[in-house]
Amino acid sequence: MSFSRSKMIRPTIRRMQGYVPGEQPQDKRYIKLNSNENPYPPSPRVVEALQQAISGDLRLYPDPVANRLRDKAAEVYGFTREQILVGNGSDDLLTMLMRTCIGPGDRVAYPVPTYSLYDELVTMQDGQIVHVPFPQDFSLPPQLGEVEAKLTILCHPNAPSGTMPSLAQVDKLAQHVRGILVIDEAYIDFAEETALPLIHKYPHVVILRTFSKSFSLAGMRVGLAFGHPEFMRQLLKVKDSYNVSRLSIVAATAALEDYAWMQQNVAKIRATRTRLTAALRAFGYVVYDSHTNFVLARQPGVNQQLMYNSIKDQGVLVRYFSSPDLADCLRISVGSDEEIDALLTAVQHLRQTAPTQHGTAHA
Ligand SMILES: Cc1ncc(COP(=O)(O)O)c(C=O)c1O
Repeated sequence: MSFSRSKMIRPTIRRMQGYVPGEQPQDKRYIKLNSNENPYPPSPRVVEALQQAISGDLRLYPDPVANRLRDKAAEVYGFTREQILVGNGSDDLLTMLMRTCIGPGDRVAYPVPTYSLYDELVTMQDGQIVHVPFPQDFSLPPQLGEVEAKLTILCHPNAPSGTMPSLAQVDKLAQHVRGILVIDEAYIDFAEETALPLIHKYPHVVILRTFSKSFSLAGMRVGLAFGHPEFMRQLLKVKDSYNVSRLSIVAATAALEDYAWMQQNVAKIRATRTRLTAALRAFGYVVYDSHTNFVLARQPGVNQQLMYNSIKDQGVLVRYFSSPDLADCLRISVGSDEEIDALLTAVQHLRQTAPTQHGTAHA
């Protein structure tokens, strides 16, 4: 039986490709610079807390709303428990937002290129995707606030460009947007200025955070949403009953208890980011000023698939996007200094063996 043509499957789902995450190869060990994971381990306090929790009562369900973590996050970020919701990664919180707000034909607007999961989630709801293209320099498109959308999403800083507008610009956007403004701050700890204060000003703003990047906990799957208590109560209705495991709650709470550990790792990653950016620019790449733990390197008009393959052959994985607007780019996660040295050696290798395309600097 062909389920791909079966009427049992909703037409929308039949037509969908499904989100394609970055490769997570199991065959051999690569230097992984393709999923924006943190090269440094989580705090030893996280590991200690997990070890204790493992010998605890795993046969019991977790707290469905993860109040221990909500209370810790409320204390750290200066909110109340009721303004915070916990998700199985911030992807889970994005799904809850879509389920809550988007029905057939409802518009969801965001600047592109951005995190491509947004497209899949809108499609699943039979919603209407409204792409508002970024200008060349990835500044905030002024039309974004004019779209009559139920949800407007701002990836802040943006993936895959790593760029971000000023807080004043985001505040202005919040004033213009009619529906809910979702600000996805997955990478904000690597930037300078969070939009969290806007939660105190605007009831229609929701901010998403994750433990996957700065806190080195991608494997635990925990995210936070901040917003108006009444809106949070609506989101709670569509949550999977026990969406966050006992161990994940323990790990994220312990990570917040050792905030300084995260900040130390972020400082190291920022220093390596500066060095990586300079080295890629010296190779002739256009590299956008990054406020994240990755950089987007562009060689205008030169498809980067060959470079991607060559780097992979040398044991380093980066992210190549085949879509026409990004095919001349590579997105490279900021690894440890040793990992970045290996990446730069791998890039240099192709420049030396195929200098005509990959060795010349472009204006
Ligand atoms: C912009 C953006 N938002 C959200 C996520 C999802 O993060 P999580 O691991 O918390 O689901 C990612 C993951 O790469 C991301 O890049």
